[in-house]
Amino acid sequence: MSKILGISGSLRQKSYNSALLRSARDLFPEVIVIGSIRGIPLYDGDLEITGVPPAVLELKQQLIDADGLLLVSPEYNNSLPGVTKNTVDWLSRPSLGVRNVFRDKPVALIGASPGGFGTILGQSAWLQVFRGLGAKHWSGGRLVVSNATRVFDDNGVLVDQSIRQRLEQFIEGFMAFCEL
Ligand SMILES: Cc1cc2nc3c(=O)[nH]c(=O)nc-3n(C[C@H](O)[C@H](O)[C@H](O)COP(=O)(O)O)c2cc1C
Repeated sequence: MSKILGISGSLRQKSYNSALLRSARDLFPEVIVIGSIRGIPLYDGDLEITGVPPAVLELKQQLIDADGLLLVSPEYNNSLPGVTKNTVDWLSRPSLGVRNVFRDKPVALIGASPGGFGTILGQSAWLQVFRGLGAKHWSGGRLVVSNATRVFDDNGVLVDQSIRQRLEQFIEGFMAFCEL
């Protein structure tokens, strides 16, 4: 078991959400494995029939093997990013002998934004998706990282000690929910 699979919903090189995920992994290197949405094409039902793309299969296998999913997602236009939703759409399709990889899978949501509300609306939008998929959303903690330009340095290192502490507590709570 890979324990917790962490996925950043951003492809951007200097992504704050990827930086937040790396910080979580660095706090719990034995528990968190980072998966990538890079290389996942736009969902296409025809492509699915001719062969599910390798990047989708690889990420899906990582999710099958994991005890829980930590989704670190940006917020776009007060909702969830299309690029991230596209990945979840691919993963939600039957393949690798699993009809719905999200069913009963523990899921936790966090996110970072340079703005003042730290992905709060984006996280709410994800709830609808994961409820529909039958995932077990962990609501025992909440982490919305606002003003991300001050929370991370230019190299994407988490420099805000209070956020670091809250991140640690959040992951500990989610680990307990995953029974790790
Ligand atoms: C299309 C688009 C829409 C955005 N909408 C929001 C928004 O609704 N709320 C917000 O806090 N930030 C918004 N942003 C700013 C993102 O939070 C910012 O680009 C952030 O750095 C994206 O995450 P990343 O650093 O992980 O790539 C938007 C950015 C883009 C590109």
